[in-house]
This record gives sequence, structure tokens and C-alpha cells, in this order.
Amino acid sequence: MHKCERITRSLMLMCLVLVLFNIWCTAGNASSIIPMQYTTETPAGVRLSFIHDPANSMTVSWWTASGNTDSKVFYGTSPGNLTSNATGTAPVMVPTGFIHNVELAGLSPDTEYFYTCGGASGNSSIFNFTTAPSPRARGMHFAAYGDTRSNQVRRRITADMILQNASIDYGTDAELVLHAGDIVSRGTEQDQFDEFSSDVQPLAAHVPMMYIAGNHEIGGLNSLYPQQFLEPANGNDGWYYSFNWGPVHFVGLDTETHGIPLLDAMDLSWMREDFRRARLDNTVLWIVVWFHQPLFVSFSHDSRVDLRESWGALFDEFKVDLVLGGHCHAYQRNYPVSHDGTISTAGTPNYVNPPYPMHVVAGAGAVNSDSETNASLRDDNFIARSNDTIFDAFGNRTFFPSNSFVNVNVTVDELTNTTRLWAEVYGLRNFKNNPTETNYTSGKIDAFSITKDIPETWYQPANNITYPGKTLPGVHNVILLIATIGIITIVDLLVIVSWRKSKKHVA
Ligand SMILES: [Fe+2]
Ligand SMILES: [Fe+2]
Repeated sequence: MHKCERITRSLMLMCLVLVLFNIWCTAGNASSIIPMQYTTETPAGVRLSFIHDPANSMTVSWWTASGNTDSKVFYGTSPGNLTSNATGTAPVMVPTGFIHNVELAGLSPDTEYFYTCGGASGNSSIFNFTTAPSPRARGMHFAAYGDTRSNQVRRRITADMILQNASIDYGTDAELVLHAGDIVSRGTEQDQFDEFSSDVQPLAAHVPMMYIAGNHEIGGLNSLYPQQFLEPANGNDGWYYSFNWGPVHFVGLDTETHGIPLLDAMDLSWMREDFRRARLDNTVLWIVVWFHQPLFVSFSHDSRVDLRESWGALFDEFKVDLVLGGHCHAYQRNYPVSHDGTISTAGTPNYVNPPYPMHVVAGAGAVNSDSETNASLRDDNFIARSNDTIFDAFGNRTFFPSNSFVNVNVTVDELTNTTRLWAEVYGLRNFKNNPTETNYTSGKIDAFSITKDIPETWYQPANNITYPGKTLPGVHNVILLIATIGIITIVDLLVIVSWRKSKKHVA
């Protein structure tokens, strides 16, 4: 056999093996055992998110075993008066059943709604939520955490902690929850997502939760993450996106699909344009960014030092205020820090017009600490890990290894012309006593604040900035497309070369 033909056949065989492997992986998901709780047509894993302005819309999603069930939401402004209804498009088929998504449009800002979802084939309980305020109507209140993957009891406790503790300091429930990824352990298994959604339903059916992918959501090309949750489509199919809620511009970013220079450059140019417009938007006082792997952390995992020069420099340039990460299963608050390592400690932990963003790690959504002995609250500065040559110390408070979440209130005081981002952090305190959902002790483990002057533009009429549109199809689809085109091109070239050579031989 000619050498080129041998190479061609090897490559074709390799392609065939890759295709068969992917089919096998998908088939494995399709045959996943349906968990016990998912045996009826009653909606399960009811959850809220939004794809358009959350002051005027909300999307209700849920799971059913069968696709022949109703995709309807009945809603209204009192629980006994659900006179409006909305119908979804065809449910999305997943390996264990179907996910229904129904958008409620034309809602009023800052208004409480009650709803039930499903239809004649089975209805959910009645839940309630509150829409985002109009721009500049008031401040806002959100909670943030990540890494719910490792322990079902612990993640139910953390969801309950957010429901119970979030209102203590501010008098209102959190209006929005950010999840920093590692939602489940294996993103290629649908029943993992089904169990997660069922576990956090008391929180997620009441407060919209907005997600970003962690490394555990990425399981190769057959990750089921993109089908699970809905996000605004102004970035890249849920891998990164942004939205405004009251005076805060939120930006969710993707640390998991980096490494292809062309895609990295496109991500970065979207990010720059998004930040640029946020700083022109005179209804925005704060920029909060969240993603999975932190740029600054001193334990458990290395910092993403590689992203400091690109992302970190942009955070500094556009004066991002708060950067939240997960991945490391603990809470860590760092000093305000520039991308190249300059730390500002003035006023710790209550900063006034700090020169750099604050980087906080909130990756303790389901920490299983039963076997740990060193759970503690520490105020010492931490030595950077070995991959990090910039710092000899950073980190001002940590709490590990037990569950925690960050509870943030943003207030606007036009009398003093100041705005304040005020964070209270709650943790699970009886970490050594195998807490149950009805017997756990939570308490405050940290507090910090950032106070800033309100810019003059705040008092001018809203300038109605629009944000960058969708720039890419899904990153994974692009990677798949590039890889497939590359392989097909190489195979074609080898076939042509081989054919020409064999023709010469015949001649
Ligand atoms: Fe992670
Ligand atoms: Fe994690």
C-alpha cells in the first residue's frame, strides 16, 4: 500500500472512531436511569431565569418525563387571581425527558407576580417572584455562590440559607442569584442536572438564578450544559452574557473554553465593547463580573494568572467594581487589587472609591466538610501559590471548608451623592456536626463594603445605551466546526495527492 493511502486510511479510521465515540457518549446519556422523583407528569425542577429585560419579563422552566404535557404558565399579581397565561414553544428533549421554557412578557417593573406552571396534565405549586426595578428606581439585592456539585444535602442547605438569611440585613429576599459554575459533577449526565434543579427548586422557583459554566459542566462535545438554563443571548449562547438589574451591570464570563487564540480574541473584543457601553450607560453605577476560575486565589487551586493580562487589565481599565469567582470550595475576600498585583488596603474592609476591583471567591455552595478538621475563619494574609510570582501576600479573610454565600445590597443615596455596595457573607457554622436540612446553624462570617460618589451623569435623562449583540454561535460548535473542516481538508488533500501519484504510476 502506498504511504499516502496508509495515512489517509488511518486518518479516516480516526475520524470514524471519534464519531463513534461521540455517539457512544450520547447514547450513554440517553440510557441514564430516570431518578425516582421524576416519575410523574407534574412539573419538576421549576426555575426562573430571563433572556430579555428582567424589569419586563421572566422565563419559567421545568422538567417533565413526557413531551406530551402542557407548556403553560398561569400568572397574576395575587395568588388567587392567576388570570394571565403564556404558552411555550415545543419543549426541549433531553436524555431523561423534556425541558419546558415559557417566557412571561409585558410584566411591570418592581412587581410581585404569582404563578403555577404545567397545565391539564399536572400543575406545580404556586410560586412568586419580583421583577427588576426600572433603571434608577432604587437599588437592588443579589446573592452569589457556586460549586453546588458535590453534596445534595449541603446544596439544599445553602439554597435554604439564601432564602432564610438573605433578608436579615436588608429586609428583602434576594432578587437575583448568581451561580459561578460547577453546578453538577458531571455535565454529560442529564439526571445530575435534574437532581440539582429539584434540590434548589425552593430558591430557584422564587428568585431568578443566572449561571455560568464551570469545569465540571464541560464534558467534551457532548456536554448537556447548554440545554439546561436560559440566559440573555447578547454574548455567546450562555457561555458569556450581560444584563442590567437596577443600577448594576452584570457580566457573566467563561473561563472554561479558553486556549484557541481566535476565539479568545473575539471573547475579549466582546468584553471590551460590553464594558465600554456599560460605562457610557448613565443608569449604571456598578459593574459586577462573575465567572468560575478566579484570577486571584491562594488555596485549593491555582489562580488563573494567564487571564490577568487580558481580562484583568480590562477590569482595571473600565473600573469593574466587584469580581466574583468559584472553583475553590471556600470563601475568600482579597484586597482591591490591580491586574499586575498592586494592592490597596486603605479602609479595609470598608473601601471608599477603591482604585482597583475587589476579587472575591464564593465557591462554597455544597462543601462536604464532615471529614475535614481545619474548618476555620481566618484573617491572615495568604501566601500565593507556586504558580504565582507577583504576590507575596493577598487575601484578607477566608472561611473554609464549609458552605457559604455572599449577600449583596446596592443602595443609592442622592442626598449624600453616594452609592454603596454592601456585602454580608453567611456561612454554615456547625460544620462538624453533619447538619441536616432541618438542623443547621448559619451565621455571619464576613462583611465588607464599597462606597463611591455618584457621577453627575446619573442625574441626566437616561441615555438608553444598547449592549453588543450576539457575536458568535456556541463556542463548542465553532470548535467542532473548525476541527471538522480541518480534518476533512487534510483527508481531502491526502486523497488528491494519493490519487495523483497513483495516476503517475499507471502512466
Ligand atoms: Fe471548578
Ligand atoms: Fe468546584
